Amino acid sequence: TPRYLADYRAAYFSITRVDLTFELEHQKTRVTNQMHFTRNKAHNLPLVLDGEQVTLVSVKLDGEILASTEYQVDDHSLTLAVDRDDFQLEIVTEINPADNTALEGLFKSGDAYCTQCEAEGFRRISYYLDRPDVMATFTTKVIADKRQCPHLLSNGNKIAAGNLANGKHFVQWHDPFPKPSYLFALVAGDFEVLRDQYLTMSGRDVALEIFVDKGNINKAHHAMASLKRAMAWDEQTFGLEYDLDIYMIVAVDFFNMGAMENKGLNVFNSKYVLADETSATDVDYFNVEAVIGHEYFHNWTGNRVTCRDWFQLSLKEGLTVFRDQQFSADMHSAAVTRIQNVRVLRSQQFAEDAGPMAHPIRPEKVIEMNNFYTLTVYEKGAEVIRMLHTILGKEKFRQGLDLYFSRFDGMAVTCDDFINAMADATGTDLEQFKLWYSQSGTPLLTVSEYYDEQNAQYHLTIAQSNNEQPALHIPVGIELITSEQQNDAHLLALTKAKQSWTFEGVKEKPVLALLTDFTAPVKTNFPQSDQALACIMTRADDEFCRWDAGQKLLTTYITRVMKQPQMSLPDSLYQVFESILSADTAAAFKAEQLTLPSFNELVDSIEAVNPIALLDAIETVKRSLAKQLAPLFLKQYQASAQAGYSHDGIAIGKRALKNVCLSYLVTLDNHEHLLSQQYQSANNMTDTLAALSCAAAYPSQELNTLMADFAIKWSDNTLVMDKWFALQASINNDTIFDKLSDLMAHPLFSLKNPNRARAVIAAFTQNNPRYFHCASGRGYQFLIEQLVLLNDINPQVASRLITPLIQFKSLDAKRQSMIKEQLVKLQQHDKLAKDLQEKVDAALA
Ligand code: ARG
Ligand code: ZN
Repeated sequence: TPRYLADYRAAYFSITRVDLTFELEHQKTRVTNQMHFTRNKAHNLPLVLDGEQVTLVSVKLDGEILASTEYQVDDHSLTLAVDRDDFQLEIVTEINPADNTALEGLFKSGDAYCTQCEAEGFRRISYYLDRPDVMATFTTKVIADKRQCPHLLSNGNKIAAGNLANGKHFVQWHDPFPKPSYLFALVAGDFEVLRDQYLTMSGRDVALEIFVDKGNINKAHHAMASLKRAMAWDEQTFGLEYDLDIYMIVAVDFFNMGAMENKGLNVFNSKYVLADETSATDVDYFNVEAVIGHEYFHNWTGNRVTCRDWFQLSLKEGLTVFRDQQFSADMHSAAVTRIQNVRVLRSQQFAEDAGPMAHPIRPEKVIEMNNFYTLTVYEKGAEVIRMLHTILGKEKFRQGLDLYFSRFDGMAVTCDDFINAMADATGTDLEQFKLWYSQSGTPLLTVSEYYDEQNAQYHLTIAQSNNEQPALHIPVGIELITSEQQNDAHLLALTKAKQSWTFEGVKEKPVLALLTDFTAPVKTNFPQSDQALACIMTRADDEFCRWDAGQKLLTTYITRVMKQPQMSLPDSLYQVFESILSADTAAAFKAEQLTLPSFNELVDSIEAVNPIALLDAIETVKRSLAKQLAPLFLKQYQASAQAGYSHDGIAIGKRALKNVCLSYLVTLDNHEHLLSQQYQSANNMTDTLAALSCAAAYPSQELNTLMADFAIKWSDNTLVMDKWFALQASINNDTIFDKLSDLMAHPLFSLKNPNRARAVIAAFTQNNPRYFHCASGRGYQFLIEQLVLLNDINPQVASRLITPLIQFKSLDAKRQSMIKEQLVKLQQHDKLAKDLQEKVDAALA
């Protein structure tokens, strides 16, 4: 049954202190949970605690054992009538970490115990008021076998430790900061630890510890360096300092998502911790730094100030994604970072916002909370924060944030509280801006212009529309480009459904560069001539607009070729590409300019699209460019090769550029040898993987040899083998379905490991669209078969993987009906988890 934002009520009871004891055993872990309760206001309602998949052992009220007639238990709660206003409850439960394949609550990752409590996993550990506005100080004692689990970790500071009988030992932790249960964490196992320290701006020493599986310590240095950079960046940028004496990060191989910001004890998917020169790509390095930053930044935006209820998730996630994006932009090329943010938004978030699960960044109705850790809440949420930053400017944004922390430190608050703090601190009216929190869908800006030569006036009109919803406050950055030295830049506040601006003293018809730095998460309808786009590409000051103009030009021709496959591309397009290739721009940026808009970025904007025709069109444009400009691509490819390996920005940019060039060159018949050459000579994973993914996209005789060689080299590196599985699943020929069966039967494959499951399933659905969408429907069928299995193993992972099957609105009628047929089958599956149920029902509604 759905829950509604409108139904929020404050809790009837508070929990001020929690004292937990875990006696860790593989299949029977005992949890003793002592809670100190107080009644909020005068009422005589019973206490209702959340609890799921736990076995209740005993309940004590103020030290007295309760008879089982004194409380009621069902499969999601424990209800107890209490007549006191202040009382102690001790609840003992038993749980089974070994069989917990859903990876929520306490579970095992290999031999290690670990927890994931956000959003509602703590109730799988013990009975509790499992909601973010109930905040308590936690003390946690962990008891386990000393040999199996030399490291026993939980939140906060270590306050006691010692040996026990039977080869056991214990460690006790205390976290002085009151927190909701979703930030609780426990980890126990045998790890290697990388230790370091950080001196905060106020002069406190913080111990930094990264726990990894034995043998991986050399892969933790980049994460440690990233953590220190993040700590320094948050001090410099926002004046925010770390608050405990210790900061721990644990890397585990079994994890549903990227990472989790538990107070003082982050748990990470090992994919976002481990990296070294030979086994990690440049993208891996980037992502490790970004996720380390993200979780660290949560300590203020999420932990010190948390969410009142889960509908407010974007309060912490949108803000923290914005912060990690700014961090990445400061550590790397700001323009390239921004371009990559926008690609994610356009290729995935826009699709979500146009699909059956569309929701505002502050959802109003939720069936399964885990389904709302979405691109909308995270990425669009970050865009909303960015718009505030743009509207207020950097200094006022900082003032607003300062007020937010001084008002709400230690509290659980709402998105409105946040916006009100920003408004109050800066004296800005943000009432209309708040609508961004309650509207779903991507606004469309329709732009028209008129140049009045006589009066030297330029008139600009922008209309906004989004399913008849009220007008939003949309910041629109523009540049007017004329033959004058300086472009004329403005930040427009679009607040009406339709609005016009007049610019005076414009001596010639300007070219409009729209949405500089992508100031708002919107689509635009503003057809510009090839010449205008070419002008923006070279003359706009804003690098995002330069890049975007190129993407628009390419989009135009890809769509035309799709409708008219025989047409030839105009010389002007070749010239544009020729000048990109020969220009003296930064390599990383050039690589972005040369990258064609992806299938996913394009597919949504075409009605009744035959995906194969779209893929063919992209391919044709790519091949035509490669053919026409082969010598230039080759020259650029060779010029970007580097003697040794280094990991600075320049080297990373050159690798990106080289590998984009490679992806063009391999579309030509006589360039296959480049692949094996690059594979053989590569001294880093970026180049190796680039060669292999080109080989998978254009499979030749040699592909199997290269893949086999790679598998032998890396068979004992889990993260690299994930890459191998993903490459195999993206092989672009009709042996793919046999290949998929082989992969699922591979001794190293397991649906129980989310990374591995995604390596095959998501790689197939995302990187192999030609076969996922093949006319027989076999691709859809394959996905459904896996979802049926995953439903019983790990509903959260299943629910993420279903995405491409529910976003079918723009596909042709035949494919839509094949997909619906498959979804109906899934809908009828008995014991369908509510994660999948919610999405399938929405898709078929
Ligand atoms: N708070 C975590 C993060 O953003 C993610 C938690 C995701 N939880 C979930 N149930 N999907 O870093
Ligand atoms: Zn987060």
